[in-house]
Amino acid sequence: MDILIQNGTVVNAGGSMQADVLVQDGRIRAVGPGLSCADARRIDAAGCFVLPGFIDTHTHFDLDTGSARTADDFVTGGRAAILGGTTAVLDFATQDRGGTLMEAFDTWQEKARGCSCNYGFHMAIAEWNAQTEAEMAEMTRRGVTSYKLYMVYDALRVDDGAIYAALKAAKREGALIGVHCENWDVLNRRIAEVKAAGMTGPAGHPLSRPAPVEAEAIARLMRIAELAETPVYVVHLSTAEGLAEARRARARGQEVYLETCPQYLLLTDECYAAPDGAKFVMSPPLRKAADNAALWDALAGSEIDFIGTDHCSFTMAQKLEHGNDFQRIPNGGAGVQHRGQLLYTYGVCEGRITMEQMVQFLSAGPAQLFGLSGRGTDAEGMAADLIVWDPAFTGRITDTNTAHNCDNSPFASFAVRGCARDVLLNGEHVVENGVLVLPGRGQYLPRKGYGKCR
Ligand code: URP
Ligand code: ZN
Repeated sequence: MDILIQNGTVVNAGGSMQADVLVQDGRIRAVGPGLSCADARRIDAAGCFVLPGFIDTHTHFDLDTGSARTADDFVTGGRAAILGGTTAVLDFATQDRGGTLMEAFDTWQEKARGCSCNYGFHMAIAEWNAQTEAEMAEMTRRGVTSYKLYMVYDALRVDDGAIYAALKAAKREGALIGVHCENWDVLNRRIAEVKAAGMTGPAGHPLSRPAPVEAEAIARLMRIAELAETPVYVVHLSTAEGLAEARRARARGQEVYLETCPQYLLLTDECYAAPDGAKFVMSPPLRKAADNAALWDALAGSEIDFIGTDHCSFTMAQKLEHGNDFQRIPNGGAGVQHRGQLLYTYGVCEGRITMEQMVQFLSAGPAQLFGLSGRGTDAEGMAADLIVWDPAFTGRITDTNTAHNCDNSPFASFAVRGCARDVLLNGEHVVENGVLVLPGRGQYLPRKGYGKCR
Protein backbone atom coordinates (compact mmCIF):
# COMPACT_ATOMS: atom_id res chain seq x y z
CA MET A 1 0.00 0.00 0.00
CA ASP A 2 1.37 3.42 -0.97
CA ILE A 3 1.26 6.02 1.81
CA LEU A 4 1.38 9.79 1.43
CA ILE A 5 2.24 11.82 4.54
CA GLN A 6 1.07 15.35 3.85
CA ASN A 7 1.56 18.84 5.26
CA GLY A 8 4.19 18.03 7.88
CA THR A 9 7.58 19.50 8.68
CA VAL A 10 10.22 16.98 7.66
CA VAL A 11 13.15 17.12 10.06
CA ASN A 12 16.52 15.60 9.28
CA ALA A 13 19.83 16.07 11.08
CA GLY A 14 20.90 18.45 8.31
CA GLY A 15 17.79 20.66 8.26
CA SER A 16 14.02 20.93 8.16
CA MET A 17 11.44 21.77 5.49
CA GLN A 18 7.72 21.79 4.87
CA ALA A 19 7.20 18.73 2.68
CA ASP A 20 5.16 15.66 1.91
CA VAL A 21 6.62 12.16 2.02
CA LEU A 22 5.56 9.45 -0.43
CA VAL A 23 6.16 5.85 0.63
CA GLN A 24 6.07 2.96 -1.83
CA ASP A 25 7.23 -0.66 -1.45
CA GLY A 26 8.68 -0.05 1.99
CA ARG A 27 10.87 2.85 0.89
CA ILE A 28 10.64 6.60 0.70
CA ARG A 29 9.92 7.33 -2.95
CA ALA A 30 9.89 11.13 -2.72
CA VAL A 31 10.16 14.02 -0.26
CA GLY A 32 8.95 17.41 -1.41
CA PRO A 33 6.14 19.94 -1.45
CA GLY A 34 2.78 19.16 -3.04
CA LEU A 35 3.30 15.46 -3.79
CA SER A 36 0.34 13.49 -5.10
CA CYS A 37 -0.45 9.83 -5.61
CA ALA A 38 -4.00 8.84 -6.53
CA ASP A 39 -4.13 5.45 -4.78
CA ALA A 40 -2.12 6.30 -1.71
CA ARG A 41 -3.49 6.15 1.81
CA ARG A 42 -3.12 9.65 3.24
CA ILE A 43 -1.81 10.66 6.66
CA ASP A 44 -2.38 14.30 7.55
CA ALA A 45 0.68 15.56 9.42
CA ALA A 46 -0.37 19.23 9.60
CA GLY A 47 1.17 20.76 12.74
CA CYS A 48 3.41 17.71 13.17
CA PHE A 49 7.04 16.83 12.53
CA VAL A 50 7.91 13.93 10.24
CA LEU A 51 11.02 12.32 11.72
CA PRO A 52 13.21 9.38 10.75
CA GLY A 53 12.46 6.45 13.09
CA PHE A 54 14.49 6.51 16.29
CA ILE A 55 17.22 3.92 16.82
CA ASP A 56 17.90 2.79 20.39
CA THR A 57 21.57 1.81 20.59
CA HIS A 58 21.31 0.15 23.98
CA THR A 59 18.63 -2.32 25.10
CA HIS A 60 18.64 -5.50 27.15
CA PHE A 61 15.51 -7.44 26.24
CA ASP A 62 15.04 -10.96 27.60
CA LEU A 63 18.32 -10.87 29.50
CA ASP A 64 18.99 -13.42 32.21
CA THR A 65 21.54 -11.91 34.59
CA GLY A 66 21.96 -15.21 36.44
CA SER A 67 19.80 -14.07 39.34
CA ALA A 68 16.89 -12.42 37.47
CA ARG A 69 15.38 -12.30 33.99
CA THR A 70 14.39 -8.89 32.66
CA ALA A 71 10.68 -8.09 32.82
CA ASP A 72 10.64 -7.13 29.14
CA ASP A 73 11.31 -9.51 26.31
CA PHE A 74 11.37 -8.60 22.63
CA VAL A 75 7.56 -8.72 22.37
CA THR A 76 6.86 -6.31 25.23
CA GLY A 77 10.04 -4.28 24.84
CA GLY A 78 9.49 -3.95 21.09
CA ARG A 79 5.90 -2.87 21.71
CA ALA A 80 7.01 -0.12 24.09
CA ALA A 81 9.77 0.92 21.69
CA ILE A 82 7.58 1.34 18.62
CA LEU A 83 4.91 3.23 20.58
CA GLY A 84 7.63 5.71 21.54
CA GLY A 85 8.80 6.11 17.93
CA THR A 86 11.77 3.75 18.17
CA THR A 87 11.75 1.74 14.95
CA ALA A 88 14.98 -0.16 15.63
CA VAL A 89 16.83 -1.38 18.69
CA LEU A 90 20.38 -2.66 18.91
CA ASP A 91 20.13 -5.22 21.67
CA PHE A 92 23.08 -6.91 23.38
CA ALA A 93 23.32 -10.55 22.36
CA THR A 94 25.50 -11.93 25.12
CA GLN A 95 28.01 -14.77 24.96
CA ASP A 96 27.92 -17.27 27.82
CA ARG A 97 31.27 -18.13 29.38
CA GLY A 98 32.21 -21.41 27.73
CA GLY A 99 29.81 -20.66 24.89
CA THR A 100 30.36 -19.25 21.41
CA LEU A 101 29.35 -16.04 19.69
CA MET A 102 27.42 -18.09 17.14
CA GLU A 103 25.33 -19.68 19.91
CA ALA A 104 24.60 -16.26 21.38
CA PHE A 105 23.61 -14.93 17.95
CA ASP A 106 21.24 -17.87 17.35
CA THR A 107 19.75 -17.53 20.82
CA TRP A 108 19.07 -13.82 20.32
CA GLN A 109 17.54 -14.40 16.89
CA GLU A 110 15.12 -16.82 18.56
CA LYS A 111 14.36 -14.39 21.39
CA ALA A 112 13.63 -11.58 18.93
CA ARG A 113 10.77 -13.35 17.15
CA GLY A 114 7.58 -11.31 17.32
CA CYS A 115 9.33 -8.01 17.97
CA SER A 116 7.29 -4.97 16.92
CA CYS A 117 10.31 -2.89 15.91
CA ASN A 118 13.32 -3.74 13.78
CA TYR A 119 16.33 -5.08 15.60
CA GLY A 120 20.03 -5.74 15.25
CA PHE A 121 22.58 -7.01 17.73
CA HIS A 122 25.78 -5.85 19.32
CA MET A 123 27.66 -8.91 20.54
CA ALA A 124 28.74 -8.84 24.19
CA ILE A 125 31.93 -10.86 24.56
CA ALA A 126 32.23 -12.57 27.94
CA GLU A 127 35.32 -14.59 27.13
CA TRP A 128 38.17 -13.49 24.91
CA ASN A 129 40.12 -16.37 23.37
CA ALA A 130 41.28 -17.64 19.97
CA GLN A 131 37.88 -19.10 19.14
CA THR A 132 36.07 -15.86 19.99
CA GLU A 133 38.47 -13.97 17.76
CA ALA A 134 38.03 -16.47 14.93
CA GLU A 135 34.25 -16.12 15.15
CA MET A 136 34.31 -12.40 14.45
CA ALA A 137 34.47 -12.97 10.69
CA GLU A 138 31.28 -15.02 10.85
CA MET A 139 29.65 -12.29 12.96
CA THR A 140 30.51 -9.82 10.19
CA ARG A 141 28.83 -12.11 7.66
CA ARG A 142 25.77 -12.25 9.89
CA GLY A 143 25.58 -8.46 10.10
CA VAL A 144 26.96 -7.96 13.62
CA THR A 145 29.54 -5.20 13.40
CA SER A 146 29.75 -3.90 16.95
CA TYR A 147 30.76 -5.50 20.23
CA LYS A 148 30.53 -4.75 23.90
CA LEU A 149 33.07 -5.51 26.57
CA TYR A 150 32.36 -5.20 30.27
CA MET A 151 34.89 -4.12 32.87
CA VAL A 152 32.32 -5.21 35.48
CA TYR A 153 30.14 -8.15 36.57
CA ASP A 154 31.77 -11.48 37.49
CA ALA A 155 30.06 -13.38 34.67
CA LEU A 156 30.95 -10.86 31.96
CA ARG A 157 34.08 -8.86 32.72
CA VAL A 158 37.23 -9.22 30.66
CA ASP A 159 40.69 -7.99 31.61
CA ASP A 160 42.61 -5.08 30.11
CA GLY A 161 44.73 -7.37 27.93
CA ALA A 162 41.58 -8.86 26.45
CA ILE A 163 40.23 -5.37 25.77
CA TYR A 164 43.46 -4.47 23.98
CA ALA A 165 43.42 -7.64 21.87
CA ALA A 166 39.70 -7.41 21.09
CA LEU A 167 40.06 -3.78 19.96
CA LYS A 168 42.79 -4.77 17.53
CA ALA A 169 40.77 -7.70 16.21
CA ALA A 170 37.67 -5.52 15.79
CA LYS A 171 39.70 -3.02 13.79
CA ARG A 172 40.85 -5.76 11.42
CA GLU A 173 37.20 -6.76 11.04
CA GLY A 174 35.96 -3.21 10.46
CA ALA A 175 33.87 -3.39 13.64
CA LEU A 176 33.46 -1.06 16.61
CA ILE A 177 33.72 -1.89 20.31
CA GLY A 178 31.83 -0.21 23.15
CA VAL A 179 32.92 -0.68 26.76
CA HIS A 180 31.12 -0.49 30.10
CA CYS A 181 33.65 1.51 32.08
CA GLU A 182 33.80 1.11 35.85
CA ASN A 183 36.66 -0.11 38.04
CA TRP A 184 35.31 -3.44 39.34
CA ASP A 185 38.01 -4.20 41.90
CA VAL A 186 37.79 -0.79 43.51
CA LEU A 187 34.01 -0.59 43.53
CA ASN A 188 33.80 -3.98 45.25
CA ARG A 189 36.10 -2.76 48.00
CA ARG A 190 33.91 0.30 48.34
CA ILE A 191 30.75 -1.83 48.51
CA ALA A 192 32.31 -3.61 51.50
CA GLU A 193 33.24 -0.26 53.09
CA VAL A 194 29.80 1.26 52.56
CA LYS A 195 28.08 -1.79 54.00
CA ALA A 196 30.49 -1.94 56.95
CA ALA A 197 29.46 1.65 57.69
CA GLY A 198 25.87 0.40 57.99
CA MET A 199 24.53 1.59 54.65
CA THR A 200 22.86 -1.33 52.93
CA GLY A 201 19.91 0.41 51.22
CA PRO A 202 19.86 2.01 47.74
CA ALA A 203 21.57 5.18 49.02
CA GLY A 204 24.72 3.09 49.38
CA HIS A 205 24.80 2.31 45.65
CA PRO A 206 26.16 5.66 44.36
CA LEU A 207 28.58 5.87 47.31
CA SER A 208 30.14 2.59 46.25
CA ARG A 209 30.57 3.75 42.63
CA PRO A 210 31.34 7.50 42.67
CA ALA A 211 32.45 9.43 39.58
CA PRO A 212 36.17 8.48 39.77
CA VAL A 213 35.19 4.81 39.51
CA GLU A 214 33.88 5.58 36.01
CA ALA A 215 36.48 8.22 35.11
CA GLU A 216 39.45 5.98 35.99
CA ALA A 217 38.02 3.21 33.82
CA ILE A 218 37.38 5.57 30.91
CA ALA A 219 40.92 6.98 31.21
CA ARG A 220 42.29 3.44 31.14
CA LEU A 221 40.14 2.48 28.16
CA MET A 222 41.27 5.57 26.30
CA ARG A 223 44.92 4.65 26.80
CA ILE A 224 44.29 1.01 25.82
CA ALA A 225 42.59 2.18 22.60
CA GLU A 226 45.48 4.59 21.99
CA LEU A 227 47.92 1.68 22.26
CA ALA A 228 45.73 -0.50 20.05
CA GLU A 229 45.37 2.39 17.59
CA THR A 230 41.63 1.83 17.26
CA PRO A 231 38.39 3.73 17.57
CA VAL A 232 36.28 2.92 20.62
CA TYR A 233 33.04 4.02 22.23
CA VAL A 234 31.96 4.47 25.82
CA VAL A 235 28.51 3.10 26.64
CA HIS A 236 26.22 5.02 29.00
CA LEU A 237 28.59 7.85 29.94
CA SER A 238 27.31 9.30 33.22
CA THR A 239 29.85 11.77 34.63
CA ALA A 240 31.55 15.08 33.87
CA GLU A 241 34.83 13.49 34.98
CA GLY A 242 34.44 10.64 32.51
CA LEU A 243 33.63 13.15 29.77
CA ALA A 244 36.86 15.00 30.60
CA GLU A 245 38.86 11.79 30.05
CA ALA A 246 37.24 11.26 26.65
CA ARG A 247 38.01 14.87 25.74
CA ARG A 248 41.67 14.31 26.62
CA ALA A 249 41.79 11.29 24.33
CA ARG A 250 40.19 13.23 21.49
CA ALA A 251 42.69 16.03 22.02
CA ARG A 252 45.43 13.44 21.48
CA GLY A 253 43.80 12.66 18.13
CA GLN A 254 41.89 9.52 19.11
CA GLU A 255 38.61 8.51 17.49
CA VAL A 256 36.26 8.26 20.47
CA TYR A 257 32.46 8.02 20.48
CA LEU A 258 30.19 8.64 23.44
CA GLU A 259 26.75 7.37 24.33
CA THR A 260 24.69 8.69 27.21
CA CYS A 261 21.14 7.91 28.39
CA PRO A 262 18.16 10.01 29.53
CA GLN A 263 18.63 8.95 33.16
CA TYR A 264 22.09 10.55 33.24
CA LEU A 265 20.65 13.77 31.84
CA LEU A 266 17.53 14.02 33.98
CA LEU A 267 17.86 12.12 37.28
CA THR A 268 20.20 12.57 40.23
CA ASP A 269 21.42 10.44 43.12
CA GLU A 270 18.83 12.11 45.36
CA CYS A 271 16.42 9.50 43.92
CA TYR A 272 18.06 6.83 46.08
CA ALA A 273 16.60 8.39 49.21
CA ALA A 274 13.03 7.83 47.93
CA PRO A 275 10.93 4.98 49.39
CA ASP A 276 11.17 3.25 46.00
CA GLY A 277 14.91 3.97 45.70
CA ALA A 278 15.48 0.37 44.54
CA LYS A 279 14.06 1.15 41.13
CA PHE A 280 16.94 3.57 40.48
CA VAL A 281 19.62 0.98 41.21
CA MET A 282 21.44 0.76 37.90
CA SER A 283 25.06 0.91 36.87
CA PRO A 284 26.59 3.38 36.49
CA PRO A 285 24.49 4.97 39.25
CA LEU A 286 22.63 8.25 38.98
CA ARG A 287 24.92 11.24 39.52
CA LYS A 288 24.85 14.90 40.59
CA ALA A 289 23.01 17.80 38.97
CA ALA A 290 26.41 19.14 37.83
CA ASP A 291 26.96 15.91 35.86
CA ASN A 292 23.52 16.26 34.23
CA ALA A 293 24.43 19.81 33.22
CA ALA A 294 27.84 18.81 31.85
CA LEU A 295 26.27 16.08 29.71
CA TRP A 296 23.60 18.47 28.36
CA ASP A 297 26.37 20.94 27.45
CA ALA A 298 28.30 18.16 25.74
CA LEU A 299 25.19 17.23 23.76
CA ALA A 300 24.60 20.83 22.75
CA GLY A 301 28.20 20.97 21.53
CA SER A 302 27.80 17.60 19.74
CA GLU A 303 30.58 16.09 21.86
CA ILE A 304 28.25 13.21 22.75
CA ASP A 305 27.32 11.19 19.69
CA PHE A 306 24.10 9.37 20.50
CA ILE A 307 21.60 8.51 23.22
CA GLY A 308 20.54 4.98 24.11
CA THR A 309 18.25 3.94 26.93
CA ASP A 310 20.00 0.97 28.59
CA HIS A 311 16.47 -0.41 28.93
CA CYS A 312 16.93 -3.26 31.41
CA SER A 313 13.65 -3.54 33.29
CA PHE A 314 12.78 -5.42 36.46
CA THR A 315 9.53 -5.38 38.41
CA MET A 316 9.55 -4.01 41.96
CA ALA A 317 9.06 -7.57 43.21
CA GLN A 318 12.23 -8.59 41.38
CA LYS A 319 14.07 -5.52 42.63
CA LEU A 320 13.15 -6.31 46.23
CA GLU A 321 13.33 -10.09 46.09
CA HIS A 322 16.45 -10.12 48.25
CA GLY A 323 15.41 -7.20 50.43
CA ASN A 324 16.45 -3.60 49.99
CA ASP A 325 20.15 -4.52 49.87
CA PHE A 326 21.70 -2.42 47.10
CA GLN A 327 24.26 -5.09 46.27
CA ARG A 328 21.53 -7.63 45.55
CA ILE A 329 19.00 -5.42 43.75
CA PRO A 330 19.03 -6.30 40.01
CA ASN A 331 20.68 -3.45 38.11
CA GLY A 332 18.74 -1.55 35.47
CA GLY A 333 15.58 0.35 34.66
CA ALA A 334 12.91 0.80 32.00
CA GLY A 335 13.21 3.55 29.39
CA VAL A 336 12.78 2.35 25.83
CA GLN A 337 9.35 3.96 25.39
CA HIS A 338 10.12 7.46 26.60
CA ARG A 339 13.50 8.50 25.17
CA GLY A 340 11.98 10.60 22.38
CA GLN A 341 9.48 12.35 24.64
CA LEU A 342 12.12 13.09 27.28
CA LEU A 343 14.61 14.46 24.75
CA TYR A 344 11.93 16.51 23.06
CA THR A 345 10.51 17.92 26.31
CA TYR A 346 13.69 18.56 28.28
CA GLY A 347 16.07 19.02 25.35
CA VAL A 348 14.25 20.69 22.46
CA CYS A 349 11.40 22.48 24.27
CA GLU A 350 13.77 23.80 26.93
CA GLY A 351 16.16 25.09 24.26
CA ARG A 352 19.11 22.87 25.20
CA ILE A 353 19.32 21.18 21.79
CA THR A 354 17.67 21.76 18.43
CA MET A 355 15.14 19.50 16.76
CA GLU A 356 17.81 18.64 14.17
CA GLN A 357 20.23 17.64 16.93
CA MET A 358 17.58 15.43 18.47
CA VAL A 359 17.28 13.64 15.11
CA GLN A 360 21.07 13.39 14.94
CA PHE A 361 21.32 11.77 18.41
CA LEU A 362 18.33 9.46 18.07
CA SER A 363 18.30 8.55 14.37
CA ALA A 364 20.98 9.75 11.95
CA GLY A 365 24.00 9.40 14.25
CA PRO A 366 23.30 5.81 15.35
CA ALA A 367 22.44 4.79 11.77
CA GLN A 368 25.74 6.09 10.42
CA LEU A 369 27.97 4.92 13.25
CA PHE A 370 26.49 1.44 13.50
CA GLY A 371 26.32 0.67 9.79
CA LEU A 372 22.54 0.88 9.41
CA SER A 373 22.88 2.28 5.92
CA GLY A 374 19.59 3.26 4.33
CA ARG A 375 18.06 4.37 7.65
CA GLY A 376 18.15 7.38 9.95
CA THR A 377 17.22 10.02 7.34
CA ASP A 378 14.00 11.03 5.59
CA ALA A 379 15.20 11.00 1.99
CA GLU A 380 14.38 9.34 -1.29
CA GLY A 381 15.46 5.71 -1.42
CA MET A 382 15.73 5.28 2.36
CA ALA A 383 13.76 2.63 4.26
CA ALA A 384 10.38 4.05 5.30
CA ASP A 385 10.83 3.99 9.08
CA LEU A 386 9.02 7.22 9.91
CA ILE A 387 7.39 9.01 12.81
CA VAL A 388 4.61 11.58 12.69
CA TRP A 389 5.54 13.45 15.87
CA ASP A 390 2.72 15.48 17.41
CA PRO A 391 4.25 18.38 19.39
CA ALA A 392 0.87 19.36 20.85
CA PHE A 393 0.57 16.24 23.00
CA THR A 394 1.04 16.71 26.73
CA GLY A 395 1.08 13.98 29.34
CA ARG A 396 2.80 12.59 32.40
CA ILE A 397 4.72 9.35 32.79
CA THR A 398 3.61 7.20 35.70
CA ASP A 399 4.83 3.86 37.00
CA THR A 400 1.99 2.08 35.27
CA ASN A 401 0.78 4.00 32.20
CA THR A 402 3.47 2.51 29.98
CA ALA A 403 3.61 -0.27 27.40
CA HIS A 404 6.51 -1.97 29.17
CA ASN A 405 5.89 -5.23 30.99
CA CYS A 406 7.09 -3.59 34.14
CA ASP A 407 5.38 -1.89 37.08
CA ASN A 408 7.86 0.95 37.48
CA SER A 409 9.59 3.67 35.53
CA PRO A 410 12.54 5.77 36.70
CA PHE A 411 10.81 8.66 34.93
CA ALA A 412 7.48 8.36 36.75
CA SER A 413 6.11 11.84 37.58
CA PHE A 414 7.90 13.48 34.61
CA ALA A 415 5.65 15.70 32.51
CA VAL A 416 6.21 15.14 28.80
CA ARG A 417 5.37 16.94 25.59
CA GLY A 418 5.11 15.47 22.12
CA CYS A 419 4.33 11.91 21.08
CA ALA A 420 4.81 9.47 18.23
CA ARG A 421 1.24 9.77 16.93
CA ASP A 422 1.81 7.58 13.87
CA VAL A 423 4.71 5.29 13.04
CA LEU A 424 5.67 3.63 9.78
CA LEU A 425 7.92 0.58 9.97
CA ASN A 426 9.45 -0.74 6.74
CA GLY A 427 6.71 1.21 4.95
CA GLU A 428 3.81 -0.23 6.97
CA HIS A 429 1.58 2.00 9.07
CA VAL A 430 2.06 0.08 12.33
CA VAL A 431 1.07 2.74 14.89
CA GLU A 432 -2.08 4.74 14.18
CA ASN A 433 -3.05 7.54 16.52
CA GLY A 434 -0.94 6.09 19.32
CA VAL A 435 -2.29 2.54 18.91
CA LEU A 436 -0.12 -0.38 17.78
CA VAL A 437 -2.33 -1.82 15.02
CA LEU A 438 0.24 -4.09 13.38
CA PRO A 439 2.28 -5.78 16.12
CA GLY A 440 5.22 -8.09 15.48
CA ARG A 441 6.35 -6.58 12.16
CA GLY A 442 9.97 -6.01 13.15
CA GLN A 443 12.74 -7.40 10.94
CA TYR A 444 16.34 -8.30 11.61
CA LEU A 445 18.68 -5.57 10.34
CA PRO A 446 22.04 -6.99 9.26
CA ARG A 447 24.65 -4.23 9.39
CA LYS A 448 27.70 -3.41 7.32
CA GLY A 449 30.80 -2.24 9.18
CA TYR A 450 30.71 0.94 11.14
CA GLY A 451 30.67 4.47 9.75
CA LYS A 452 33.38 6.86 10.87
CA CYS A 453 31.69 9.97 12.28
CA ARG A 454 34.69 11.82 13.75
O1 URP B 1 22.34 -1.32 35.41
C1 URP B 1 22.40 -1.59 34.24
N1 URP B 1 22.75 -0.67 33.39
N2 URP B 1 22.12 -2.82 33.82
C2 URP B 1 22.20 -3.26 32.49
C3 URP B 1 23.52 -3.83 32.15
C4 URP B 1 24.53 -2.77 31.92
O2 URP B 1 25.38 -2.59 32.78
O3 URP B 1 24.49 -2.10 30.88
ZN1 ZN C 1 23.39 -1.84 29.37
